[in-house]
Amino acid sequence: MSVHKEVKRITTNTIQEMKHKGEKIAMLTSYDYSMATIVDDGGIDVILVGDSASNVMAGHETTLPITLDQMIYHAASVVRGVKRALVVVDLPFGSYQGNSKEALNSAIRIMKESGAHAVKLEGGAEVRESIERIITAGIPVMGHLGLTPQSIYKFGTYTVRAKEEAEARKLKEDSQVLQEAGCFSVVLEKIPAILAAEVTKSLKIPTIGIGAGQYCDGQVLVINDMIGLTKGFHPRFLRQYLNLYEQIGGAVQEYVRDVKEGSFPSEKEQY
Ligand code: KIV
Repeated sequence: MSVHKEVKRITTNTIQEMKHKGEKIAMLTSYDYSMATIVDDGGIDVILVGDSASNVMAGHETTLPITLDQMIYHAASVVRGVKRALVVVDLPFGSYQGNSKEALNSAIRIMKESGAHAVKLEGGAEVRESIERIITAGIPVMGHLGLTPQSIYKFGTYTVRAKEEAEARKLKEDSQVLQEAGCFSVVLEKIPAILAAEVTKSLKIPTIGIGAGQYCDGQVLVINDMIGLTKGFHPRFLRQYLNLYEQIGGAVQEYVRDVKEGSFPSEKEQY
């Protein structure tokens, strides 16, 4: 008889309990089956199928072009590779801003067609009705405040947000709105660490920061940036754990050399 050790899945409740126990939450993005398997086996708590796929997978300059169908394709591939982590999927630009019915339909498609566990969307008070409607249908929602890349053409730059008092006040109000609307957590992107600390302290739900400092309840990075697959991207908030761009490039050069000189395949590598 084989004995299978049951893997205890991370749920939205788990990550809320982690905040209350003071245990930090580790989140990374993934966009495909192979990477999701590695990230999940590595012990990550939350995998975000981010609309950053638009940048790092498809080569677009912004997150705006990626479609709902494309997000579902990435999300379903990730879900097939994950046994333990909570899988959260971004609602892409244009799939929820119209009205709350559109938002609910998009969230339902993601849950039904990918098998993911929750959705994420950007914005504060202006998306409250959509958040409430999605949650009423039983779908957990993660919020996203600060630098919200789907609004890049409104901001004009990717610089730190909410440095001014008025924007900081609005962000604090929006964080309360997201909590009241029922979000199970909120991403804080590129805001001053001191503001993120204040928001984190004032909320019962966990905050997950990217470029938002050490006081958030958790941290998230784009996996391609974190393992050095992205060429020439070195923002201050990014800790790069590997330089895969160079390592893979080196492997490709070796392979090209081996093929050209006839040393690959060898006798042992053929039938
Ligand atoms: O799309 C994404 O990868 C994100 C993270 C940067 C939080 O939203």
